[in-house]
Amino acid sequence: MSPSLTGISLHVKALLTTGHGPTDLRLADIDEPSPREDEAVVEVRAVSVNRGELAHAERLPPGSRLGWDVAGVVVRAADDGSGPAAGTRVVGVAPSTGWAERVAVPTRALASLPEEVRDTEAAALPVAGLTAYHSLRKAGWLLGSTLLVTGAGGGVGRFLVQLAARGGARVIAVVGSAERAVGLGELGASVVTTYDDVPDELPDLVVDGVGGQILAAAMDRLKPDGVAVAYGNASGQPLTLPADWGHRHPDTVFRRFSLLLEASRTPMAPTLAFLIQLLASGLLDPQVAATAPWGEAKPLLEDLLHRRVNGKVVLTVGS
Ligand SMILES: NC(=O)c1ccc[n+]([C@@H]2O[C@H](COP(=O)([O-])OP(=O)(O)OC[C@H]3O[C@@H](n4cnc5c(N)ncnc54)[C@H](OP(=O)(O)O)[C@@H]3O)[C@@H](O)[C@H]2O)c1
Repeated sequence: MSPSLTGISLHVKALLTTGHGPTDLRLADIDEPSPREDEAVVEVRAVSVNRGELAHAERLPPGSRLGWDVAGVVVRAADDGSGPAAGTRVVGVAPSTGWAERVAVPTRALASLPEEVRDTEAAALPVAGLTAYHSLRKAGWLLGSTLLVTGAGGGVGRFLVQLAARGGARVIAVVGSAERAVGLGELGASVVTTYDDVPDELPDLVVDGVGGQILAAAMDRLKPDGVAVAYGNASGQPLTLPADWGHRHPDTVFRRFSLLLEASRTPMAPTLAFLIQLLASGLLDPQVAATAPWGEAKPLLEDLLHRRVNGKVVLTVGS
């Protein structure tokens, strides 16, 4: 950060798009954040990378900012008196601006961090953990239900498996290859399998982040009155169901989940605080698969893009 004569930084560094693909980013100076009344300024220590940010990085013009998940310290509390005080360690969801040394974060998307949770662990949680939590809420009753999770080896998938198992579901975790299955049994999955080897039992619930044929196959397996929740479409494929699907699934419910939409309706802070509490008490594992300083992010972004990461990529911020 560059100090001004008053000792206050005028510029901070941020990781920006270059227009040369989703993993080619550059560190550059940007203006200090100017928070709205309901935003705290956070000095960022760690961020995590979601597949969605790679998709944004691919699309956005050079010089664009990125980043949702941040962990760090509040250096300026919100002017409206909401949220944590200056000096509080926090985790939160920034409005696509989080990959910077300092960022303004709405207090409705910030939670305090207990001492025992490290910045790198906390940063892994927000988008993936909140998406898993809310997708499961949309799916419905977990206790005693059988839940099929597709893309179970990914960032959201690993939170889904853990939260659903904690909620009392029998979890069938489905992955693309044996390498992606690592650790899923320990996280609570009753069955861990690849797409070509899914057991015959009919799930009550499906939660999917892959889309296309994988979602279609999962919906085809559902009980006639089952519930499917789709939170993502990592495959980029359209969903095509067999012509007689509706006939065989007269009471099936299909729901789409969007964290952006959810966040516009409900403050994320209470759920974030709940998930952080699970982390602090050892009931949830952040599944941080790889960390690197943010200036050396490229190899890890490539690994994430090409599905070689079993869990979350976390970047540490600062020089
Ligand atoms: N709606 C929302 O608010 C929301 C929030 C978070 C994430 N998302 C979306 O949810 C999806 C998963 O996010 P994530 O952060 O968990 O990603 P991730 O960590 O990269 O996991 C992606 C998962 O999708 C599977 N997959 C299957 N086919 C794929 C393909 N063609 N390309 C990439 N992955 C494929 C991968 O498993 P295998 O390698 O085992 O096949 C992997 O488990 C993304 O589409 C993301 O944009 C949406």
